[in-house]
Amino acid sequence: MPPNTTNNSVESVSEQFQKLDLKTLAREKGNYQVYPRTNYPPLEPFEHYDPGKLADPKKASLYDNAERIFDLTPSIGTEVHGLQLSQLTDQQKNDLALLTAERGVIFFRNQDLDPYQGVEFGKYFGRLHIHNIVGHPPGLPYIASIFYNEQDPQTTKLFESRSADEGWHSDITYENQPAGLTFLKVSIIDTVPGDGDTIGGDTIWASAYGAYDKLSKPMQQFLEGLEAVHTGQVHKDNAQRTGHFIRRDFVDYVHPVIRTHPLTGWKGLFVQPGFTKSIVGLNRKESDVLLKFLFNHIAGGHDFQVRFKWTEDTVAVWDNRATFHCAIFDYFTSGRRHGWRITPTAERPYYDPNSKSRREDLAERAEKEANSQ
Ligand code: SIN
Repeated sequence: MPPNTTNNSVESVSEQFQKLDLKTLAREKGNYQVYPRTNYPPLEPFEHYDPGKLADPKKASLYDNAERIFDLTPSIGTEVHGLQLSQLTDQQKNDLALLTAERGVIFFRNQDLDPYQGVEFGKYFGRLHIHNIVGHPPGLPYIASIFYNEQDPQTTKLFESRSADEGWHSDITYENQPAGLTFLKVSIIDTVPGDGDTIGGDTIWASAYGAYDKLSKPMQQFLEGLEAVHTGQVHKDNAQRTGHFIRRDFVDYVHPVIRTHPLTGWKGLFVQPGFTKSIVGLNRKESDVLLKFLFNHIAGGHDFQVRFKWTEDTVAVWDNRATFHCAIFDYFTSGRRHGWRITPTAERPYYDPNSKSRREDLAERAEKEANSQ
């Protein structure tokens, strides 16, 4: 196992509490999350070891053992059938880290992974993040519960009054070392009557590599030297609106606008409407216009997006260093959706001027292969 460490000051979950069944809790109790008035210290820098560095470039441990692995779009999104995340070997986890870095988001349906196994699984990929404000199940601080109650008008009003594309984000980019591989298990707890299908509550992911590749060369070159300020202001505002305690102070951090992924070596766009506030060095008007253009570029990039329709007990595994995502809140009048997310963190974002665009790299590789035949 790679030497990723977690915050030991947080009580060990499985020993202290009886195991919880979150789906049943959500179904029977509605909002089951707790918001303890615990003060967490600032996050200390740590050395991230990425298990994807131990991956087999062919990811044979996954491809040779799954029933089926298929891509959902050319740019982003792959579905894996016939593997349980709860049973993966270390080599399969390493290969999953690389596959996720390459394809952005990987979907596994009908998973038996429970939140306790999820915490252990998550630790393999990086130091787990405890959210500054989001509610968690009792005794499970590493879990971010995703459950919006249709009977909570404060929340439903918020989502109904904003435009859906304002929801695009990568998780916790306001941290010094934001999220890497991240996963979410969704259980639809009420479904719309019909032929058994769920309706609504889809999530869209967009490829940061695709977003970079779609920009013109002069725009790519202009963005490459730039940095942006990321802030958790939206979460602070939410905490204020809902009266929830801020468990760790939010600190703004500056990250490169174009980020190099440490596993693929590819360049990706690294700003999004959720948490990016301004571009360093530009005046306010210039920064606002440029960010607005880039946010629209992400939201309108249907050729580098995948829209996923959840089924009961699906787990999505995505790499926040290579993607953005946007949950669609269209289900408040027709059903309920519950999920839990685990957020391993990774290296401090960096830009390597020698890194390549995905398009360039894949074209070079294809040419090399053609020449070798
Ligand atoms: C998230 O933003 O991490 C959750 C996405 C979702 O609920 O689909």
